[in-house]
Amino acid sequence: MLALAQAALLQTGVPALAEHRIANIFRPLATPADSEYKLALFVLSITGAIFVIVGGLLLYAMIRFRRKPGDDARQEPPQVYGSNQIEVAWTVIPILIVFILLGVTVRMIGAIQDAQPGPSALRATIVGHQWWWEIHYPDLGITTANEFHVPVADASGHATFMKLESMDVIHSFWVPQLSGKTDLIPNRDNALWFDPREPGVYLGNCAEYCGQQHANMLLRVIVHREGDFEKWAAAQSKPAEDDPAVSQGKAMFESLSCVSCHTVRGTSAKGDVGPDLTHLMSRETIGSGVLPNTPKNLRDWVKDPQAIKPGCLMPSMRLNGQELDQVVAYLESLK
Ligand code: CUA
Repeated sequence: MLALAQAALLQTGVPALAEHRIANIFRPLATPADSEYKLALFVLSITGAIFVIVGGLLLYAMIRFRRKPGDDARQEPPQVYGSNQIEVAWTVIPILIVFILLGVTVRMIGAIQDAQPGPSALRATIVGHQWWWEIHYPDLGITTANEFHVPVADASGHATFMKLESMDVIHSFWVPQLSGKTDLIPNRDNALWFDPREPGVYLGNCAEYCGQQHANMLLRVIVHREGDFEKWAAAQSKPAEDDPAVSQGKAMFESLSCVSCHTVRGTSAKGDVGPDLTHLMSRETIGSGVLPNTPKNLRDWVKDPQAIKPGCLMPSMRLNGQELDQVVAYLESLK
């Protein structure tokens, strides 16, 4: 439902992979999601069969032994009730079923948790914040936010292995078509991996209530086609563009307290409380997925973030129209 709502909300987004938006929880597209989906179907089929058998017997007994005229008057011969065989059967069979379900589940969890990253695996660290996602690639020296770029998994096992951390409260990473939910817990490292089979934009969200804007802590995993991820990574590892045409906006930005929360690599902005803005314009959305990244939306966001995402940690800088235009022009140069 959420994924569908998100898909509808974000129809207005743009770039390259936008034509292939994936938001169907019944179509798992990575090994962990696929194993979990199959387990869910297995459990559903067994419990469904139990429901049909028990319900059927109940219905049969209700109809077969319903009250008939003359029941009270009839003198029944004394009968012996109960059957040891049946009692043993309906005690032992459910116990066996419980152990089968337990065994299959534990085996699947073990298989997913024991998977080891191959030599070509991508490593990433995801840090949950109220209310956005910080994304690091330790081997590539890249930091970004909210839009997690990964390569499609190919025959060489190009899977993505993540370390999950939290800066404040407990969040939960959930991209239904790639894997199950995993919590991001302060002072604890959790792990998660997936191997996306198809390129596209996978929609996800925080799945653990984490405060006022929990529902607006949206996440997108952008799975690149073969070879495209390297191009994206090469562009991201460059320092910020220094466009002389927006030097006034840059000076304005650097004079404000923006720099104590945000980083723009290659400038004096080195904060680590908010998203890294070095390549802000390469992102499809702003505010952790709440708005498409258009010039108008960006201007509205900088003008008064609290009007768009009440409770978020970014304050309004109370800029006048001209100052706002300059700062936004600078931000738009951060390609
Ligand atoms: Cu973060 Cu809910």
